[in-house]
Amino acid sequence: MTQTQPAEPTSGARGRFITLEGGEGVGKSTNLAFVVDALEARGIEVVQTREPGGTPRAEAIRELLLASSDEPLDSDAELLLVFAARAQHLAQRIRPALERGAWVVSDRFTDATFAYQGGGRGLPFERIVQLERLVQGELTPDLTLLLDMPLDAAERRLAGRLDRTGTRKDRFEQERRDFFERVRLAYLARAEQAPQRMVRIDADASLEEVQRRITRVLDERVAQWT
Ligand SMILES: Nc1ncnc2c1ncn2[C@@H]1O[C@H](COP(=O)(O)OP(=O)(O)O)[C@@H](O)[C@H]1O
Ligand SMILES: [Mg+2]
Repeated sequence: MTQTQPAEPTSGARGRFITLEGGEGVGKSTNLAFVVDALEARGIEVVQTREPGGTPRAEAIRELLLASSDEPLDSDAELLLVFAARAQHLAQRIRPALERGAWVVSDRFTDATFAYQGGGRGLPFERIVQLERLVQGELTPDLTLLLDMPLDAAERRLAGRLDRTGTRKDRFEQERRDFFERVRLAYLARAEQAPQRMVRIDADASLEEVQRRITRVLDERVAQWT
């Protein structure tokens, strides 16, 4: 009798993890949708998510992080909340997706913690490295697109968005300019330290041009991976 072999698990491979990073207004959310569409067009199952957040409980932590209040939020408390949300997001959403072979595309991840809590708030990087190890173990993104542009140009875009949506600035958006300068520099420093994983995209161009740049990087990586 011939034995029917179980179908070769084509999804035996773990999915890929792609993150978009950068300051406010550089075009992360806009291009996240573009990256998701580009991958789905190749027949890849994609889970689209964001940080902080990505699950109901993690989104509740996001609210705590973004809400303005008369009570200041201690920087270490902020850092721990970011990683608490991340632990939940990893356990409930990211790891299960990657394990079943889906690709995960996230609007921000741990590079943002190095940029905002490390660069912006001035917390010691070693403290973030320790929490990263604790919460993520070996898991890091396979590819990070760092959308980078001068602050002034990004602020102009953001002003347009805030006007249109009529939303108030959150706790981070209320920070001063030097905070965002440090965030940008910390992002750029990280990209230099991990040039293979983290690709800087000059985001100060038309959306069409930015998406051409993203497509070039994506095409090259997807060809390596599939
Ligand atoms: N390349 C671009 N040129 C002009 N405007 C852009 C470009 N990319 C995004 N925008 C606009 O800039 C604003 C900020 O983009 P968004 O994707 O929300 O940024 P982020 O998520 O990084 O804060 C939005 O109104 C968006 O439509
Ligand atoms: Mg956004």
